[in-house]
Amino acid sequence: MTDKNTYETDLSVKFGKISLKNPVISCSGTFAGGLQYSRFFDISKLGAVTTKSFSLKKKDGNPSPRIWETASGMLNSIGLQNEGIDFFISTQLEEIRNLGAEIILSIFGESAEEFKKIALKIKPVLKHLKAIELNYSCPNVKAGGMAFCGVPENIRTITSEIKSIIDIPLIAKLSPNFGPVTECAIQAKKGGADAVSVINTVTGTAFDIDTYKPRLANIVGGLSGPAIKPAALLQVYQLAKGKIIPIIGMGGIYSWQDAVEFLIAGAAAVGIGTVNFSQPDAGEKIIAGISEYLISKNINSINDIIGKAL
Ligand SMILES: Cc1cc2nc3c(=O)[nH]c(=O)nc-3n(C[C@H](O)[C@H](O)[C@H](O)COP(=O)(O)O)c2cc1C
Repeated sequence: MTDKNTYETDLSVKFGKISLKNPVISCSGTFAGGLQYSRFFDISKLGAVTTKSFSLKKKDGNPSPRIWETASGMLNSIGLQNEGIDFFISTQLEEIRNLGAEIILSIFGESAEEFKKIALKIKPVLKHLKAIELNYSCPNVKAGGMAFCGVPENIRTITSEIKSIIDIPLIAKLSPNFGPVTECAIQAKKGGADAVSVINTVTGTAFDIDTYKPRLANIVGGLSGPAIKPAALLQVYQLAKGKIIPIIGMGGIYSWQDAVEFLIAGAAAVGIGTVNFSQPDAGEKIIAGISEYLISKNINSINDIIGKAL
């Protein structure tokens, strides 16, 4: 078509067994339960909403202070505070469904056993979910959590065990804090994951030079936002080059230009996280921006730009 105003762009993406109407997804833990953001835009416009990571039982998380703003980003040590999977099933699921949004449920356990127990609990509601994201990152969870997620073998075992319990697309959310994510991605693939989410926050800290105290009660936090974008982009690019598994790229995406950068680096979809705190309608704007970009370049389908930089 020559008239660029009538040029139609197809934003739909398909990777593994996951189909989305567009590639823009909210990142786990940065979009509340979705409901709060529906005051700012129609959240059903997103490719999908990813929930906060839910554990088997309610978790209070780490003590406060647990947020610290940094240059071009933020440190958080929320410690995976959540209301527990029963709350998602009984309350939040219905709330998000009523808003018409596609749902990716994020879950985490501190052992394989806990992951499996959650999988059994969500069996009856699977038909309402697009996919399950398995949070293998747990940067702020102490002891068991850290060591447990840092072992690539565990990722394969748990993914395949969960796959044998529930029949739904699985996404493995990987951490950059245990070295390059490649080995974890290979294990996620072997375990039967459909995709990986890359990256979770990067561990860091900050101190008050007057009181000599850490800015976070937990001392260690996870850095997110534009500060981590180049590091995230490199992980996505390298994984995509290796053609291991489809990737949902995330880390510092603040604009449609950032999103396009991740897509050309090989991400099949993108997650938007920290930006939601300062620009609650970022999702809607990023989708519109990508669409206009494609129109301006006379590109019919978003799939024509995915991996262009590889
Ligand atoms: C306050 C906060 C809470 C988060 N909670 C979770 C979580 O519960 N589960 C998870 O997998 N990732 C969590 N994340 C990580 C994000 O989903 C995302 O991977 C990361 O922040 C990088 O993207 P961004 O720079 O766009 O925020 C959290 C991030 C922030 C800032």
